[in-house]
Amino acid sequence: MPATNRRDFLRQLVSAGALTTGASWLGQLGFAQTRGPARVMIHQSRVRAELDRRVLGAFLEHLGRAVYEGVYDPKSKFADANGFRKDVIEEVGRMNVPIMRYPGGNFVSGYNWLDGVGPKDKRPTVLERAWNSLEPNQFGTNEFIDWCKLVKSEPLLGTNFGTASAESTVALMEYCNVERGTKWSDLRREHGYAQPHNVKYWCLGNEMDGPWQIGHMPAREYGRKARDAARQMRGIDPTAQLIACGSSAPSMQTYMVWDREVLEECYDQVDAISLHCYYGNTQQQTGGDAQRYVGMNLDMERQIQEIAAVCDYVQALQNSPKRLWLSFDEWNVWYRARGGRFANGNRTFAPHLLEEVYNLEDALLVGGLVNTLIRQAERVRVGCLAQIINVIAPLMTNADKVLRQSIYFPYAWSLQYAHGNVLDVLVESDTYEARPPIGGTGGPPHAHSPKVPYLDVVATMNPGNGQVALFMLNRDLNAEREVTIDWRETAPTRVLACQTLTGADLKAHNTFEQPNTVQPQTLDAPSPGAKMTFKLPARSYTVAHLATS
Ligand code: AHR
Repeated sequence: MPATNRRDFLRQLVSAGALTTGASWLGQLGFAQTRGPARVMIHQSRVRAELDRRVLGAFLEHLGRAVYEGVYDPKSKFADANGFRKDVIEEVGRMNVPIMRYPGGNFVSGYNWLDGVGPKDKRPTVLERAWNSLEPNQFGTNEFIDWCKLVKSEPLLGTNFGTASAESTVALMEYCNVERGTKWSDLRREHGYAQPHNVKYWCLGNEMDGPWQIGHMPAREYGRKARDAARQMRGIDPTAQLIACGSSAPSMQTYMVWDREVLEECYDQVDAISLHCYYGNTQQQTGGDAQRYVGMNLDMERQIQEIAAVCDYVQALQNSPKRLWLSFDEWNVWYRARGGRFANGNRTFAPHLLEEVYNLEDALLVGGLVNTLIRQAERVRVGCLAQIINVIAPLMTNADKVLRQSIYFPYAWSLQYAHGNVLDVLVESDTYEARPPIGGTGGPPHAHSPKVPYLDVVATMNPGNGQVALFMLNRDLNAEREVTIDWRETAPTRVLACQTLTGADLKAHNTFEQPNTVQPQTLDAPSPGAKMTFKLPARSYTVAHLATS
């Protein structure tokens, strides 16, 4: 189907009930509109999904100063014997990031993984074409796996579907996952890694729908290549989880048609499809309106539903018993350090690229995006905050320090507190209207409705210890909002922690000189009990950690 038929395809999906419209949209997410005080009803036995912690993963790309100067810097005073920065290992390790995507991103589509393995003095320096930078290949697949062990993350490897053949992807898998006795597994052993890496999660290419991508190709061509590679990869490791490359943003002309065509070619061989999206408080996307901006996690919610609908459509067409899961393996705020000089390394080593500075309003939206991923955990099993360090990242380094940017806090809280099951909460909240700007081109119309609830709340409960975590975004930029949590089953017995991220200035941000401008504060929590009323400050994201036994 050509891209021009996209509208027809969408219409068919809507009429088939795969996509919902208007009023029922917020209800589906567990929101109800109210004019009175906000209320959240929680029945602990009503579970939306078991939380796969991988939904809270991150991403490390050979881009700018992410790998070199971020993770690997043998000249740094913090370097360990392998050249890894110990202060960064400590920071990332403390966060407990469950899964880390690597090595790209756009980088992967021109990457020859063989350049990055074996004796370091034999590895070539190459001209990296995605970001026009120098790539010395001193950090490659094996170093990444070593680093993942140090920070206690599981690797998610991306493979080159741009310049490389399916055979190159399959060879990399053999190199990583076969124990011994074959060409590529023996090469790994020769490189000093006797044990296989056993990498389970694989991305089959990156953003191949994008004209900017090295090796960009039509959907069906990509789908056939993915199918071929995936079939061979399954032969090597039948337990591997293979992620096909989906649309790189809802604003793409080929959005959803790309996904449908790709899946029509490779559905039977893959386990998941990828989603990407970056958000910004831009003229085009929000008209620069912060109130609209902090509601944009509802756009992510809609994207998840739409791509899930496409997967289900192809499943039904092919009469397949297999239901695909979703990998939201690139998401973040990114709009200031974008394009032009921010994306051009000018053939230098470790250039300052995509060094986005994050403020309070970005952190609020990131909190909302985390809430969406948790809420949609039934379908989204992998998610990657893009990225982890120095490049559109919660953490930044200079020679002396690691800086936590504002977005670090909502993300780190989810890693610390979200465990077990995602509860099916009902949120009753007043709403406000936030329409997309006139003439804006920032993707689909906002959610399905201009109504945005002031409060966005998700809850997890760890069945092992009975502990509950509440993640609460107050989108009201002007006023404190009260929310009463109505526990319909076991009431909390203790408040273990309650912290909020807020401030007077939505544009405030941290710097190396003033690292504490945006910092969490302890919030006075209500006494534990069957009804608990939290007073959420204006412009805030709050986590409450509660014991129920
Ligand atoms: O994360 C930065 C870039 O954004 C990635 O390389 C690419 O996949 C996306 O367009």
